[in-house]
Amino acid sequence: MPRHAFRGSIFHLLDDPSAGEAAVGHFEDGVLLVEDGHVAEIGPWTEVAPRLEGAPVQRFPGGLIVPGFVDAHVHFPQVDIVASPENNLLHWLSAYAFPAESRFHHEDVAAETARFFLDQLLANGTTTALVFATAHKVSAEALFTEALKRNMRIVTGKVLMDRNAPAGISDTAETGYQESRALIHAWHGKGRLGYAVTPRFALTSSDRQLELAGRLLKEHPGVHLQTHLSENLDELEAVRRAFPDCADYFMVYEKYGLATQLSVFAHCLHLSTDEWARLGKRHCGIAFCPTSNLFLGSGLFDLLVAETAGARVGLGTDIGAGTSLSLFATMNEAFKVCQLKKRAAGALKLFYLATLGGARALRLDDKVGNLAPGKEADFLVLDAKALPLMQRRWNRTSSLVEKLFALAILGDDRAVARTYVAGALAHTRA
Ligand code: GUN
Ligand code: ZN
Repeated sequence: MPRHAFRGSIFHLLDDPSAGEAAVGHFEDGVLLVEDGHVAEIGPWTEVAPRLEGAPVQRFPGGLIVPGFVDAHVHFPQVDIVASPENNLLHWLSAYAFPAESRFHHEDVAAETARFFLDQLLANGTTTALVFATAHKVSAEALFTEALKRNMRIVTGKVLMDRNAPAGISDTAETGYQESRALIHAWHGKGRLGYAVTPRFALTSSDRQLELAGRLLKEHPGVHLQTHLSENLDELEAVRRAFPDCADYFMVYEKYGLATQLSVFAHCLHLSTDEWARLGKRHCGIAFCPTSNLFLGSGLFDLLVAETAGARVGLGTDIGAGTSLSLFATMNEAFKVCQLKKRAAGALKLFYLATLGGARALRLDDKVGNLAPGKEADFLVLDAKALPLMQRRWNRTSSLVEKLFALAILGDDRAVARTYVAGALAHTRA
């Protein structure tokens, strides 16, 4: 791929903004030089321009170039049941999620939904995601196939679920193991794809299935693990009854070797101090899913407790219990949850969680999360003009941080003018 330069205002984060001002990379008139799908250079126009050596320059006056967003937890087969009202996770699962997922044994359903889902991610500026498929092998194959066509950085896996679920969406410990293994061999590391061993949560897997999930991780270093942890109080009670030998919920995953540096746990709303300490010590990743946690009334995530424990935190949209595929909407709700928990979360922190924080949670920060030289060139051109209210607010802002905050609170897919994946244009706003 030839060298291409993109000129405009550029913002990205080199570290957690709590680390200080050095974490912020901002060039009012900046340029991003992309070569072979990777960032070759980033800096002020006046400094980098002499080194462009004839590379074509695309200009975005009035636009803001930022890294592509990272969705650390989402279910692609649940796009059809978003906004289905329920007041409890376990009821919602049996009333909506399980019936919706039962359609995914059909290849055509899986392929059509995967196309819709990935195109929506790109329209919302999400270029990296950790995604649940269903228990059907074809559902994961469909998502891998479509993600490969789009050259997106997608990590997914077939759900493991051999109890407490309808027959049509269940596997067995053995078939779950065999099919996951076959998928890892076929897809992990192909293009920008990765595999995540995906036991749905403790309640829907037998001890044998969790044991085999741990074996999959041991046999395939570099493969992720994704699951749910401590989302709902009824769920906690049921886990206590199902695993009487485990002192707490997190211990179920620890017992089977599922709490690793490549594990990402969604929710984590009701963990004890001891669970947090162990989770931090094991360097696990966490997906903070504010729209979902609020929608199902599951609880309020404590960002400070998570970070203090040493966990790596990203944001998850968690569609279909979550209510938007937009990381803007997710930042907005994350901010409000932090307000209620009396935790500071300014614009820089919100953008960090949606970009580099998410990449760190997924341990993909050597590849994505910001626009440092060498990273894969996944980036967005944001444009406030399509949102009249935000445009009006922008006219009254005097700093980058104020503009970013208005974006985080007021933004949606209309703010995403263009999405680039590995340096190639993948979406243009209609
Ligand atoms: N826990 C187990 N499965 C699910 C799911 O599909 N969505 C949410 N939000 N929580 C879960
Ligand atoms: Zn989920």
